[in-house]
Amino acid sequence: MKEDTPYLEIEGGFELSGEVRVSGAKNAVLPVLAATLLVPGIYRLARVPRLLDLYTMLELLEYLGASFRWEEDLLVVDTQRVEGWEAPYALVSRMRGSILVLGALTARFGRARVAKPGGCPIGPRPVDLHTRGLALMGARVEDQNEIWVEAPQGLRGAEIVLDFPSVTATENLLMAAVRARGRSRIVNAAREPEVEFLGRFLEAMGAKIRGLGTGVLEIEGGRELTPPSEPVTIIPDRIETGTYLMLAGLCGGEITVAGTEPQYLEAPLLKLREAGLEVEWEADRVYARATGPLRPLKVVTAPYPGFPTDLQAQIMVLLTQAHGISRITENLFKERFRHVPELQRMGADIEQEGGIAFVRGPTPLRAAEVKAHDLRAGASLVLAALAAEGVSRVYGLEHLDRGYEALEEKLRALGARIRRRREESFAAGRPSWAARGG
Ligand code: EPU
Repeated sequence: MKEDTPYLEIEGGFELSGEVRVSGAKNAVLPVLAATLLVPGIYRLARVPRLLDLYTMLELLEYLGASFRWEEDLLVVDTQRVEGWEAPYALVSRMRGSILVLGALTARFGRARVAKPGGCPIGPRPVDLHTRGLALMGARVEDQNEIWVEAPQGLRGAEIVLDFPSVTATENLLMAAVRARGRSRIVNAAREPEVEFLGRFLEAMGAKIRGLGTGVLEIEGGRELTPPSEPVTIIPDRIETGTYLMLAGLCGGEITVAGTEPQYLEAPLLKLREAGLEVEWEADRVYARATGPLRPLKVVTAPYPGFPTDLQAQIMVLLTQAHGISRITENLFKERFRHVPELQRMGADIEQEGGIAFVRGPTPLRAAEVKAHDLRAGASLVLAALAAEGVSRVYGLEHLDRGYEALEEKLRALGARIRRRREESFAAGRPSWAARGG
Protein backbone atom coordinates (compact mmCIF):
# COMPACT_ATOMS: atom_id res chain seq x y z
CA MET A 1 0.00 0.00 0.00
CA LYS A 2 1.29 3.43 -0.92
CA GLU A 3 1.46 5.80 1.96
CA ASP A 4 2.22 9.50 1.66
CA THR A 5 3.38 11.82 4.38
CA PRO A 6 2.78 15.43 3.53
CA TYR A 7 5.23 18.05 4.71
CA LEU A 8 6.07 21.67 4.13
CA GLU A 9 9.33 22.35 2.38
CA ILE A 10 10.56 25.74 3.49
CA GLU A 11 13.64 27.53 2.27
CA GLY A 12 14.39 30.08 4.95
CA GLY A 13 16.67 32.99 5.61
CA PHE A 14 14.97 35.52 3.33
CA GLU A 15 13.41 38.82 4.22
CA LEU A 16 9.61 38.69 4.27
CA SER A 17 7.50 41.80 3.78
CA GLY A 18 4.02 42.79 2.79
CA GLU A 19 0.43 42.51 3.83
CA VAL A 20 -1.48 39.48 5.00
CA ARG A 21 -5.24 39.35 5.58
CA VAL A 22 -6.37 37.21 8.47
CA SER A 23 -9.24 34.72 8.35
CA GLY A 24 -12.20 34.33 10.67
CA ALA A 25 -11.28 32.87 14.05
CA LYS A 26 -11.32 29.10 14.48
CA ASN A 27 -12.20 29.39 18.15
CA ALA A 28 -15.09 31.73 17.35
CA VAL A 29 -16.70 29.69 14.61
CA LEU A 30 -16.66 26.39 16.56
CA PRO A 31 -18.88 27.55 19.48
CA VAL A 32 -21.19 29.40 17.11
CA LEU A 33 -21.70 26.20 15.11
CA ALA A 34 -22.49 24.39 18.34
CA ALA A 35 -25.02 27.12 19.14
CA THR A 36 -26.91 26.36 15.91
CA LEU A 37 -28.02 23.17 17.68
CA LEU A 38 -29.93 25.16 20.28
CA VAL A 39 -32.97 25.76 18.10
CA PRO A 40 -33.91 24.17 14.77
CA GLY A 41 -33.46 26.56 11.88
CA ILE A 42 -31.28 27.89 9.12
CA TYR A 43 -28.16 29.82 10.10
CA ARG A 44 -25.93 31.90 7.83
CA LEU A 45 -22.32 32.62 8.68
CA ALA A 46 -19.84 34.82 6.84
CA ARG A 47 -16.04 34.86 6.97
CA VAL A 48 -15.88 31.23 7.99
CA PRO A 49 -12.31 29.89 7.85
CA ARG A 50 -12.02 26.69 5.82
CA LEU A 51 -10.04 24.62 8.26
CA LEU A 52 -9.82 21.00 9.24
CA ASP A 53 -11.44 21.78 12.60
CA LEU A 54 -14.32 23.52 10.84
CA TYR A 55 -14.96 20.43 8.72
CA THR A 56 -14.73 18.17 11.76
CA MET A 57 -17.38 20.30 13.49
CA LEU A 58 -19.56 20.22 10.36
CA GLU A 59 -19.15 16.44 10.24
CA LEU A 60 -20.31 16.26 13.84
CA LEU A 61 -23.34 18.44 13.05
CA GLU A 62 -24.14 16.21 10.07
CA TYR A 63 -23.85 13.15 12.29
CA LEU A 64 -26.46 14.74 14.56
CA GLY A 65 -28.79 15.33 11.60
CA ALA A 66 -27.88 18.83 10.36
CA SER A 67 -26.87 19.70 6.81
CA PHE A 68 -24.75 22.49 5.42
CA ARG A 69 -23.91 24.12 2.11
CA TRP A 70 -21.77 26.96 0.87
CA GLU A 71 -23.45 29.84 -0.92
CA GLU A 72 -20.30 31.37 -2.32
CA ASP A 73 -18.55 32.57 0.83
CA LEU A 74 -21.54 32.14 3.08
CA LEU A 75 -21.84 28.96 5.14
CA VAL A 76 -25.48 27.93 5.51
CA VAL A 77 -26.25 25.44 8.27
CA ASP A 78 -29.65 23.80 8.55
CA THR A 79 -30.39 22.25 11.95
CA GLN A 80 -34.10 21.65 11.36
CA ARG A 81 -33.77 17.88 11.26
CA VAL A 82 -31.32 17.42 14.11
CA GLU A 83 -32.35 14.54 16.35
CA GLY A 84 -29.04 13.14 17.49
CA TRP A 85 -27.66 13.91 20.94
CA GLU A 86 -24.50 11.84 20.98
CA ALA A 87 -21.02 12.86 19.85
CA PRO A 88 -19.00 9.75 18.96
CA TYR A 89 -15.42 9.04 19.89
CA ALA A 90 -14.27 9.07 16.26
CA LEU A 91 -15.10 12.77 15.97
CA VAL A 92 -14.35 13.89 19.53
CA SER A 93 -10.89 12.32 19.42
CA ARG A 94 -10.08 14.36 16.29
CA MET A 95 -11.02 17.64 17.89
CA ARG A 96 -11.32 18.60 21.55
CA GLY A 97 -13.66 21.42 20.57
CA SER A 98 -16.36 18.77 20.02
CA ILE A 99 -17.10 19.13 23.75
CA LEU A 100 -18.83 22.38 22.74
CA VAL A 101 -21.97 20.48 21.73
CA LEU A 102 -22.54 19.31 25.31
CA GLY A 103 -24.35 22.42 26.56
CA ALA A 104 -26.46 22.97 23.45
CA LEU A 105 -27.59 19.33 23.15
CA THR A 106 -28.51 19.13 26.83
CA ALA A 107 -30.44 22.38 26.54
CA ARG A 108 -32.32 21.22 23.47
CA PHE A 109 -32.96 17.53 24.12
CA GLY A 110 -32.65 17.22 27.88
CA ARG A 111 -29.79 14.82 27.38
CA ALA A 112 -26.40 14.51 25.72
CA ARG A 113 -23.64 12.00 25.46
CA VAL A 114 -20.16 13.07 24.42
CA ALA A 115 -17.33 10.58 24.16
CA LYS A 116 -14.22 11.43 26.11
CA PRO A 117 -11.14 11.96 24.01
CA GLY A 118 -7.91 10.25 24.99
CA GLY A 119 -4.59 11.96 25.68
CA CYS A 120 -3.91 15.36 24.25
CA PRO A 121 -0.61 16.67 22.90
CA ILE A 122 -0.82 19.77 25.09
CA GLY A 123 -1.52 17.94 28.36
CA PRO A 124 -4.60 17.02 30.39
CA ARG A 125 -7.85 18.63 29.30
CA PRO A 126 -10.39 17.93 32.06
CA VAL A 127 -14.05 18.85 31.59
CA ASP A 128 -15.12 18.93 35.23
CA LEU A 129 -16.01 22.63 35.05
CA HIS A 130 -18.42 21.95 32.18
CA THR A 131 -20.13 19.07 33.94
CA ARG A 132 -20.27 20.67 37.38
CA GLY A 133 -21.97 23.72 35.91
CA LEU A 134 -24.56 21.56 34.18
CA ALA A 135 -25.12 19.63 37.41
CA LEU A 136 -25.83 22.91 39.19
CA MET A 137 -28.42 23.57 36.49
CA GLY A 138 -30.20 20.41 37.51
CA ALA A 139 -28.66 17.82 35.20
CA ARG A 140 -27.59 14.36 36.25
CA VAL A 141 -24.03 13.83 35.09
CA GLU A 142 -21.88 10.77 34.65
CA ASP A 143 -18.30 11.42 33.70
CA GLN A 144 -16.43 8.21 33.00
CA ASN A 145 -15.33 6.96 29.57
CA GLU A 146 -17.94 9.23 28.14
CA ILE A 147 -19.92 12.13 29.48
CA TRP A 148 -23.60 11.47 30.00
CA VAL A 149 -25.81 14.37 30.92
CA GLU A 150 -29.53 14.02 31.55
CA ALA A 151 -32.06 16.67 32.44
CA PRO A 152 -35.44 15.19 31.49
CA GLN A 153 -37.30 18.09 33.10
CA GLY A 154 -35.07 20.60 31.35
CA LEU A 155 -32.34 22.77 32.84
CA ARG A 156 -32.95 25.48 35.38
CA GLY A 157 -31.00 28.67 35.89
CA ALA A 158 -28.20 28.52 38.48
CA GLU A 159 -25.43 30.50 40.08
CA ILE A 160 -22.14 29.00 39.05
CA VAL A 161 -18.63 29.98 39.99
CA LEU A 162 -15.89 28.59 37.78
CA ASP A 163 -12.69 27.61 39.59
CA PHE A 164 -10.86 28.72 36.47
CA PRO A 165 -12.18 30.92 33.65
CA SER A 166 -12.26 28.08 31.12
CA VAL A 167 -13.14 29.20 27.60
CA THR A 168 -15.17 26.24 26.39
CA ALA A 169 -16.75 25.63 29.83
CA THR A 170 -18.02 29.22 29.83
CA GLU A 171 -19.30 28.75 26.28
CA ASN A 172 -21.08 25.49 27.11
CA LEU A 173 -22.71 26.95 30.20
CA LEU A 174 -23.73 30.10 28.36
CA MET A 175 -25.46 28.02 25.70
CA ALA A 176 -27.16 25.91 28.34
CA ALA A 177 -28.22 28.96 30.36
CA VAL A 178 -29.98 30.77 27.52
CA ARG A 179 -32.44 27.86 27.27
CA ALA A 180 -32.67 27.07 30.98
CA ARG A 181 -35.68 28.21 33.01
CA GLY A 182 -34.91 31.31 35.03
CA ARG A 183 -31.82 33.40 35.61
CA SER A 184 -28.23 32.22 35.69
CA ARG A 185 -25.01 33.81 36.82
CA ILE A 186 -21.61 32.60 35.71
CA VAL A 187 -18.93 34.02 37.98
CA ASN A 188 -15.26 33.96 36.94
CA ALA A 189 -16.37 33.47 33.35
CA ALA A 190 -13.79 33.51 30.56
CA ARG A 191 -13.46 36.96 28.99
CA GLU A 192 -11.92 35.87 25.69
CA PRO A 193 -13.25 37.77 22.66
CA GLU A 194 -14.53 34.47 21.25
CA VAL A 195 -16.73 34.00 24.33
CA GLU A 196 -18.07 37.52 23.94
CA PHE A 197 -18.73 36.84 20.27
CA LEU A 198 -20.72 33.71 21.11
CA GLY A 199 -22.73 35.86 23.53
CA ARG A 200 -23.45 38.39 20.77
CA PHE A 201 -24.53 35.55 18.50
CA LEU A 202 -26.92 34.27 21.18
CA GLU A 203 -28.23 37.81 21.63
CA ALA A 204 -28.87 37.97 17.88
CA MET A 205 -30.98 34.83 18.44
CA GLY A 206 -33.01 36.62 21.12
CA ALA A 207 -31.10 35.74 24.29
CA LYS A 208 -30.66 38.25 27.09
CA ILE A 209 -27.16 38.32 28.56
CA ARG A 210 -25.53 40.95 30.73
CA GLY A 211 -21.82 41.39 31.34
CA LEU A 212 -20.44 40.07 28.06
CA GLY A 213 -16.69 40.62 27.97
CA THR A 214 -16.53 40.69 31.78
CA GLY A 215 -15.95 37.94 34.32
CA VAL A 216 -19.57 37.86 35.48
CA LEU A 217 -22.30 36.85 33.06
CA GLU A 218 -26.00 37.17 33.90
CA ILE A 219 -28.38 35.31 31.69
CA GLU A 220 -32.13 35.52 31.59
CA GLY A 221 -32.99 32.04 30.42
CA GLY A 222 -35.98 30.60 28.65
CA ARG A 223 -36.58 33.40 26.16
CA GLU A 224 -37.76 32.44 22.70
CA LEU A 225 -34.77 31.90 20.42
CA THR A 226 -34.67 31.95 16.62
CA PRO A 227 -31.73 31.90 14.19
CA PRO A 228 -30.31 35.41 13.61
CA SER A 229 -32.19 37.12 10.79
CA GLU A 230 -29.00 38.41 9.10
CA PRO A 231 -25.80 36.48 8.30
CA VAL A 232 -23.35 36.72 11.17
CA THR A 233 -19.71 37.50 10.37
CA ILE A 234 -17.06 35.58 12.32
CA ILE A 235 -14.54 37.80 14.14
CA PRO A 236 -10.92 37.84 12.91
CA ASP A 237 -8.44 35.31 14.27
CA ARG A 238 -6.25 37.06 16.83
CA ILE A 239 -3.90 34.10 17.10
CA GLU A 240 -3.34 34.01 13.35
CA THR A 241 -2.67 37.76 13.53
CA GLY A 242 -0.06 37.32 16.25
CA THR A 243 1.57 34.43 14.41
CA TYR A 244 2.21 36.50 11.27
CA LEU A 245 3.47 39.49 13.25
CA MET A 246 6.33 37.38 14.66
CA LEU A 247 7.77 37.29 11.13
CA ALA A 248 8.73 40.97 11.37
CA GLY A 249 11.22 40.12 14.10
CA LEU A 250 12.36 36.85 12.58
CA CYS A 251 12.72 37.64 8.90
CA GLY A 252 13.61 41.30 9.01
CA GLY A 253 10.92 42.84 6.84
CA GLU A 254 7.85 44.94 7.46
CA ILE A 255 4.64 43.00 8.06
CA THR A 256 1.14 44.41 7.87
CA VAL A 257 -1.75 42.31 9.12
CA ALA A 258 -5.06 43.50 7.73
CA GLY A 259 -8.67 42.71 8.57
CA THR A 260 -7.91 42.18 12.24
CA GLU A 261 -9.06 43.71 15.54
CA PRO A 262 -5.98 45.03 17.36
CA GLN A 263 -7.96 45.88 20.50
CA TYR A 264 -8.16 42.15 21.24
CA LEU A 265 -4.41 41.70 20.93
CA GLU A 266 -3.07 44.21 23.40
CA ALA A 267 -0.94 41.83 25.46
CA PRO A 268 0.89 40.30 22.47
CA LEU A 269 1.31 43.66 20.73
CA LEU A 270 2.76 45.28 23.82
CA LYS A 271 5.08 42.32 24.36
CA LEU A 272 6.35 42.63 20.80
CA ARG A 273 7.03 46.32 21.43
CA GLU A 274 8.80 45.45 24.67
CA ALA A 275 10.98 43.06 22.67
CA GLY A 276 12.02 46.02 20.55
CA LEU A 277 9.84 45.68 17.47
CA GLU A 278 8.21 48.78 16.10
CA VAL A 279 4.50 47.97 16.30
CA GLU A 280 1.70 50.34 15.31
CA TRP A 281 -1.99 49.72 14.90
CA GLU A 282 -5.14 51.42 13.74
CA ALA A 283 -8.78 50.40 13.29
CA ASP A 284 -8.33 47.04 11.58
CA ARG A 285 -4.63 46.63 10.85
CA VAL A 286 -1.31 46.20 12.59
CA TYR A 287 2.18 47.04 11.26
CA ALA A 288 5.35 45.55 12.67
CA ARG A 289 9.02 45.83 11.80
CA ALA A 290 12.34 45.29 13.48
CA THR A 291 14.50 48.36 13.87
CA GLY A 292 17.35 46.97 15.94
CA PRO A 293 18.39 44.03 18.09
CA LEU A 294 15.60 42.23 19.92
CA ARG A 295 15.42 42.36 23.70
CA PRO A 296 14.65 39.32 25.87
CA LEU A 297 11.25 39.09 27.58
CA LYS A 298 9.42 37.54 30.47
CA VAL A 299 6.23 36.03 29.11
CA VAL A 300 3.53 34.50 31.31
CA THR A 301 0.53 32.90 29.66
CA ALA A 302 -2.80 33.73 31.27
CA PRO A 303 -6.50 33.86 30.45
CA TYR A 304 -7.59 36.88 28.40
CA PRO A 305 -6.61 39.72 28.55
CA GLY A 306 -3.28 38.11 29.52
CA PHE A 307 -0.78 36.72 27.04
CA PRO A 308 -2.49 33.84 25.17
CA THR A 309 -1.15 30.32 25.49
CA ASP A 310 -1.97 29.94 21.80
CA LEU A 311 0.94 32.32 20.98
CA GLN A 312 3.43 30.87 23.45
CA ALA A 313 5.22 28.59 20.97
CA GLN A 314 5.42 31.34 18.35
CA ILE A 315 6.91 33.97 20.66
CA MET A 316 9.41 31.40 21.86
CA VAL A 317 10.83 31.24 18.32
CA LEU A 318 11.07 35.03 18.21
CA LEU A 319 12.92 35.05 21.52
CA THR A 320 15.60 32.70 20.17
CA GLN A 321 16.76 35.85 18.34
CA ALA A 322 16.67 38.20 21.34
CA HIS A 323 19.93 39.25 23.01
CA GLY A 324 19.79 37.69 26.46
CA ILE A 325 17.77 35.17 28.42
CA SER A 326 13.99 35.12 28.15
CA ARG A 327 11.71 33.29 30.52
CA ILE A 328 8.39 31.85 29.36
CA THR A 329 5.92 30.54 31.92
CA GLU A 330 3.08 28.39 30.59
CA ASN A 331 0.21 28.52 33.04
CA LEU A 332 -2.68 27.10 31.05
CA PHE A 333 -1.34 23.86 29.65
CA LYS A 334 1.78 22.96 31.58
CA GLU A 335 2.84 20.32 29.05
CA ARG A 336 2.49 22.57 26.05
CA PHE A 337 6.21 22.48 25.25
CA ARG A 338 6.50 19.75 22.65
CA HIS A 339 7.92 22.30 20.22
CA VAL A 340 10.98 22.71 22.47
CA PRO A 341 12.90 19.59 21.38
CA GLU A 342 12.12 20.40 17.75
CA LEU A 343 13.37 23.98 18.12
CA GLN A 344 16.47 22.64 19.85
CA ARG A 345 17.11 20.50 16.78
CA MET A 346 17.11 23.73 14.80
CA GLY A 347 19.78 25.22 17.02
CA ALA A 348 17.69 27.02 19.64
CA ASP A 349 19.16 27.21 23.14
CA ILE A 350 16.17 26.42 25.36
CA GLU A 351 16.01 24.87 28.79
CA GLN A 352 12.68 23.69 30.09
CA GLU A 353 11.83 22.97 33.69
CA GLY A 354 8.22 22.04 34.35
CA GLY A 355 6.03 24.81 33.06
CA ILE A 356 8.89 27.25 32.50
CA ALA A 357 11.22 27.60 29.53
CA PHE A 358 14.38 29.69 29.45
CA VAL A 359 15.43 30.83 26.00
CA ARG A 360 18.99 32.06 25.50
CA GLY A 361 19.58 34.16 22.42
CA PRO A 362 20.53 35.02 19.88
CA THR A 363 21.26 31.69 18.25
CA PRO A 364 21.22 31.30 14.49
CA LEU A 365 18.54 28.80 13.55
CA ARG A 366 19.51 26.07 11.13
CA ALA A 367 17.35 24.14 8.72
CA ALA A 368 16.17 20.71 9.88
CA GLU A 369 13.46 18.11 9.56
CA VAL A 370 10.99 18.70 12.36
CA LYS A 371 7.55 17.51 13.37
CA ALA A 372 4.60 19.39 14.79
CA HIS A 373 2.81 17.68 17.68
CA ASP A 374 0.08 20.26 18.04
CA LEU A 375 -1.36 23.15 16.11
CA ARG A 376 0.52 26.08 17.62
CA ALA A 377 3.74 24.07 17.84
CA GLY A 378 3.34 23.59 14.09
CA ALA A 379 3.07 27.34 13.58
CA SER A 380 6.22 27.90 15.62
CA LEU A 381 8.16 25.41 13.50
CA VAL A 382 7.06 27.13 10.30
CA LEU A 383 8.25 30.45 11.73
CA ALA A 384 11.58 28.90 12.75
CA ALA A 385 12.03 27.33 9.31
CA LEU A 386 11.38 30.67 7.62
CA ALA A 387 14.09 32.24 9.76
CA ALA A 388 16.61 29.40 9.35
CA GLU A 389 18.98 29.41 6.43
CA GLY A 390 18.60 26.36 4.23
CA VAL A 391 15.78 24.00 3.43
CA SER A 392 13.66 22.64 6.28
CA ARG A 393 10.87 20.13 6.29
CA VAL A 394 7.96 20.53 8.68
CA TYR A 395 5.90 17.39 9.24
CA GLY A 396 2.70 16.94 11.22
CA LEU A 397 0.54 19.00 8.87
CA GLU A 398 -2.62 17.37 10.20
CA HIS A 399 -2.14 19.67 13.20
CA LEU A 400 -1.29 22.83 11.26
CA ASP A 401 -4.23 22.38 8.90
CA ARG A 402 -6.60 22.40 11.87
CA GLY A 403 -6.11 26.09 12.41
CA TYR A 404 -4.33 28.08 9.67
CA GLU A 405 -6.31 28.84 6.54
CA ALA A 406 -4.30 29.12 3.30
CA LEU A 407 -1.04 29.23 5.26
CA GLU A 408 1.27 28.63 2.30
CA GLU A 409 -0.51 31.10 0.02
CA LYS A 410 -0.46 33.81 2.66
CA LEU A 411 3.22 33.26 3.39
CA ARG A 412 4.14 33.12 -0.30
CA ALA A 413 2.48 36.52 -0.75
CA LEU A 414 5.00 37.85 1.78
CA GLY A 415 7.86 36.37 -0.24
CA ALA A 416 8.27 33.04 1.54
CA ARG A 417 9.61 30.01 -0.29
CA ILE A 418 7.25 27.37 0.97
CA ARG A 419 5.73 24.38 -0.75
CA ARG A 420 3.58 21.49 0.33
CA ARG A 421 5.04 18.18 -0.72
CA ARG A 422 4.32 14.53 -0.23
CA GLU A 423 6.89 11.96 0.66
CA GLU A 424 6.59 8.31 -0.03
CA SER A 425 7.06 6.46 3.21
CA PHE A 426 10.14 4.36 3.65
CA ALA A 427 8.06 1.22 3.24
CA ALA A 428 6.43 2.43 0.04
CA GLY A 429 9.61 3.86 -1.39
CA ARG A 430 12.01 1.05 -0.61
CA PRO A 431 14.09 -0.16 -3.50
CA SER A 432 12.93 -3.15 -5.52
CA TRP A 433 15.71 -5.38 -4.20
CA ALA A 434 14.36 -4.80 -0.70
CA ALA A 435 10.86 -5.69 -1.84
CA ARG A 436 12.20 -8.95 -3.22
CA GLY A 437 13.69 -9.66 0.17
CA GLY A 438 17.25 -9.40 -1.15
N1 EPU B 1 -9.72 23.23 32.86
C1 EPU B 1 -10.10 22.46 33.93
N2 EPU B 1 -11.35 21.91 33.94
C2 EPU B 1 -12.22 22.11 32.91
C3 EPU B 1 -11.84 22.89 31.83
C4 EPU B 1 -10.57 23.44 31.82
O1 EPU B 1 -9.35 22.25 34.86
O2 EPU B 1 -13.35 21.60 32.99
C5 EPU B 1 -8.37 23.81 32.83
C6 EPU B 1 -7.51 23.15 31.76
O3 EPU B 1 -6.90 21.98 32.22
C7 EPU B 1 -6.50 24.22 31.44
C8 EPU B 1 -7.25 25.50 31.67
O4 EPU B 1 -8.43 25.15 32.39
O5 EPU B 1 -5.44 24.16 32.34
C9 EPU B 1 -7.60 26.29 30.42
O6 EPU B 1 -8.37 25.58 29.54
P1 EPU B 1 -9.68 26.13 28.83
O7 EPU B 1 -10.80 25.27 29.29
O8 EPU B 1 -9.83 27.60 28.92
O9 EPU B 1 -9.30 25.74 27.35
P2 EPU B 1 -10.31 25.15 26.32
O10 EPU B 1 -11.60 25.82 26.48
O11 EPU B 1 -10.24 23.67 26.35
C10 EPU B 1 -9.80 26.94 24.48
C11 EPU B 1 -9.29 26.94 23.07
C12 EPU B 1 -7.82 26.56 23.07
C13 EPU B 1 -7.05 27.55 23.93
C14 EPU B 1 -7.66 27.61 25.34
C15 EPU B 1 -7.04 28.65 26.22
C16 EPU B 1 -11.27 26.41 21.78
C17 EPU B 1 -11.99 25.43 20.94
N3 EPU B 1 -10.09 26.01 22.28
O12 EPU B 1 -9.62 25.62 24.96
O13 EPU B 1 -7.36 26.64 21.73
O14 EPU B 1 -5.71 27.19 24.03
O15 EPU B 1 -9.07 27.89 25.24
O16 EPU B 1 -7.18 29.90 25.69
O17 EPU B 1 -11.73 27.51 21.97
C18 EPU B 1 -5.88 26.25 19.93
O18 EPU B 1 -6.61 26.98 19.24
O19 EPU B 1 -4.75 25.86 19.55
C19 EPU B 1 -6.34 25.84 21.25
C20 EPU B 1 -5.82 24.82 21.92
